[in-house]
Amino acid sequence: MKIRQENRKDYGEVYNVIKQAFLSAEHSDGTEQDLVVALRKGVSFIPDLSLVSVENNKIIGHILFTKITIGSNVELALAPLSVLPDYQKRGIGSALITEGHRIAKTLGYDYSVVLGNPRVYGKAGYVPASTYGIKPPFAVRDENFMAIKLNRDAKTLEGVVKYDNAFGID
Ligand SMILES: CC(C)(COP(=O)(O)OP(=O)(O)OC[C@H]1O[C@@H](n2cnc3c(N)ncnc32)[C@H](O)[C@@H]1OP(=O)(O)O)[C@@H](O)C(=O)NCCC(=O)NCCS
Repeated sequence: MKIRQENRKDYGEVYNVIKQAFLSAEHSDGTEQDLVVALRKGVSFIPDLSLVSVENNKIIGHILFTKITIGSNVELALAPLSVLPDYQKRGIGSALITEGHRIAKTLGYDYSVVLGNPRVYGKAGYVPASTYGIKPPFAVRDENFMAIKLNRDAKTLEGVVKYDNAFGID
């Protein structure tokens, strides 16, 4: 299994990976694949942080981090993360997160936030975002809105996350 940056030729296959993955998801509105299509067209898209995991020339997983703002700081949101159902629970999701964080650090980002299951993201180092003073722009249980500090020396951020408009959050 290797992880590499997504390219334009992958878009169709990635669309299906996301769709298939979220059919089995705990929480899904069934439109995560369309969210990625919309995000790619916007200003929050970072091509280096749209990654695919490939096994035998087949795309089996995808991860996307897009830009968010917290006050005047530009940071990252991890969403969505998708692994084809037949390939789940084999460490592929974790490997995509780890590689995304490595690249994010080299690009100079200090924090990434994620909305999701603490059992999936806690292992990758995410803690409740409230730990860092980072607040969600919607009502959610504290344990489900998480953040990771990518750079040990990063300054504390206090503020509410503003996502790309494609997320449909006011
Ligand atoms: C969530 C998802 C990306 C995880 O990918 P994966 O390759 O199966 O994850 P990993 O094998 O790297 O597992 C990472 C950890 O998360 C846990 N985990 C994975 N899927 C889980 C689930 N559905 N519920 C609870 N824990 C889960 C694993 O048990 C593992 O922890 P462990 O090593 O302590 O057992 C994958 O299950 C998926 O695509 N799900 C459908 C889409 C989705 O829900 N995306 C996330 C939205 S928040």
